[in-house]
Amino acid sequence: MEIIIKQDYDKMSKEAADFIVNYINNKPETLLCIAGGETPAGILKYLVEASNNKKVDFSKCKFVSLDEWVGLGRETRGSCKETLYNQFFDLIPITEEQICFFDGLASDLEKECKRVDKFISDNGNIDLIVLGIGMNGHIGFNEPNVPLDTYCHVVGLDPVTKDVSVKYFDKALDVKQGISLGMKTINEADTILLIANDLRKADIVKKTVEGEKMPEVPSSLLKDFPKLYFFLDEAAASKLTK
Ligand code: PGA
Repeated sequence: MEIIIKQDYDKMSKEAADFIVNYINNKPETLLCIAGGETPAGILKYLVEASNNKKVDFSKCKFVSLDEWVGLGRETRGSCKETLYNQFFDLIPITEEQICFFDGLASDLEKECKRVDKFISDNGNIDLIVLGIGMNGHIGFNEPNVPLDTYCHVVGLDPVTKDVSVKYFDKALDVKQGISLGMKTINEADTILLIANDLRKADIVKKTVEGEKMPEVPSSLLKDFPKLYFFLDEAAASKLTK
């Protein structure tokens, strides 16, 4: 694991965005996956800027979603789809055919999982995946005590995830399940970027980096992944001792 600590959220976001831009410049056909949530917003802003300034060309890339709240679609402000489309896909010159996004409103969720699994395998696995870390160590909706042998799957949400979910939505939503790429999907990627900022993530960052590998902390299971880059701001890194 390579740990990259930048002074603040903006500098962390810029550094991670530069990494992604370089990656795509080296491999224009990148299959890219970027998490929804708050943490990647700065990265997405810099990726859009790089695209506008012709520093990167996404026209040969493919994009797959990491996760979605079951029962929510793009109409719901704060859904993963709404976030990624509004902050990224709609702002760069790409076509809908390049994107495969979980439909949280699908009536057959198992079929939806298979559709996304197939898109990934048809495109030769994920090249670069950008993951935030939940307060409970979840990555995507791979919640504490996640099985390791899963591809796309539907999960019951952990109580911490349900509590934290209120920050995304402008009204109370009773989210109970998520649909997510699995640990196997993530482990088959070429390169993983983990990102975390803010003091509130300092404890889970410490557990991830310095704690034992354990299914109770899904992010810790990535520790020995060969190409893992952990981008942090100083606040999120402040409890690291090594
Ligand atoms: P956040 O979410 O970026 O909104 O903090 C992280 C996560 O739950 O994966």
